[in-house]
Amino acid sequence: MPSEKRVGILGSGVVGKQLGRGFAMHGYEVMLGSRDPSKLESWKKETKGRVATGTFAQAAAYGPVVILATAGMGAEAAVDLAGTKNFAGKLVLDATNPLDFSGGLPGLFVGTTDSLGERIQRKLPDAKVVKCFNTVGNVRMVDPKFKEGTPPMLVCGNDAAAKKQTEGILRELGWPGALDVGSIESARWLEALVPLWVRVAQVMNTYEHAFKAVR
Ligand SMILES: NC(=O)c1ccc[n+]([C@@H]2O[C@H](COP(=O)([O-])OP(=O)(O)OC[C@H]3O[C@@H](n4cnc5c(N)ncnc54)[C@H](OP(=O)(O)O)[C@@H]3O)[C@@H](O)[C@H]2O)c1
Repeated sequence: MPSEKRVGILGSGVVGKQLGRGFAMHGYEVMLGSRDPSKLESWKKETKGRVATGTFAQAAAYGPVVILATAGMGAEAAVDLAGTKNFAGKLVLDATNPLDFSGGLPGLFVGTTDSLGERIQRKLPDAKVVKCFNTVGNVRMVDPKFKEGTPPMLVCGNDAAAKKQTEGILRELGWPGALDVGSIESARWLEALVPLWVRVAQVMNTYEHAFKAVR
């Protein structure tokens, strides 16, 4: 039986690395997955061996929590490469965004009547997909500090227990909690926030901001 504090991360970009280091710092055993794990050798040394590396399939099979942190365009292909059976029964935190930069300003290649979160849940009916991390910049994903106060992480998904488990994980990583905005269908709007997040980044000249609901 794998340890409960084991997380496999599919994605070797800045998000995968940031979360890999962060989860390891917070006491998790971590494996970072890539189509080409050999390219992570020098990075693995930087983590002083605290993060293991492997293929997407090895990372998906690693523990009870899997994080999807690939490019949006490659997310479904990455899940296929990882093997859908390796996600069965697991909590899958989906940090991806379906961004399409072909028109200059970012758009969404899924339109507004679907989302990458829903596509991943449809592909993995036996897994509990929770959209999480996708609305914050990678530098604020772990131990976040915001001058105007750290907001709860925006999350959504179909399984209430999986969202509670996600909130527990977020608290371990230094978040004040989660704002649950509903079923995985709400991923349409968590993903649609991201073109706005990019626009705000350009206007405010920062990549360290997040959205907070105030009343
Ligand atoms: N950057 C941020 O601050 C931020 C914040 C929130 C959410 N996000 C989202 O998080 C995700 C990761 O972002 P990132 O900037 O860390 O990295 P990225 O450059 O968007 O993605 C890199 C990862 O995607 C994989 N990949 C690319 N094309 C693929 C394909 N066709 N098939 C399978 N895998 C493919 C790469 O695999 P290899 O390892 O094999 O090269 C690599 O692991 C994105 O969806 C992004 O929108 C980013």
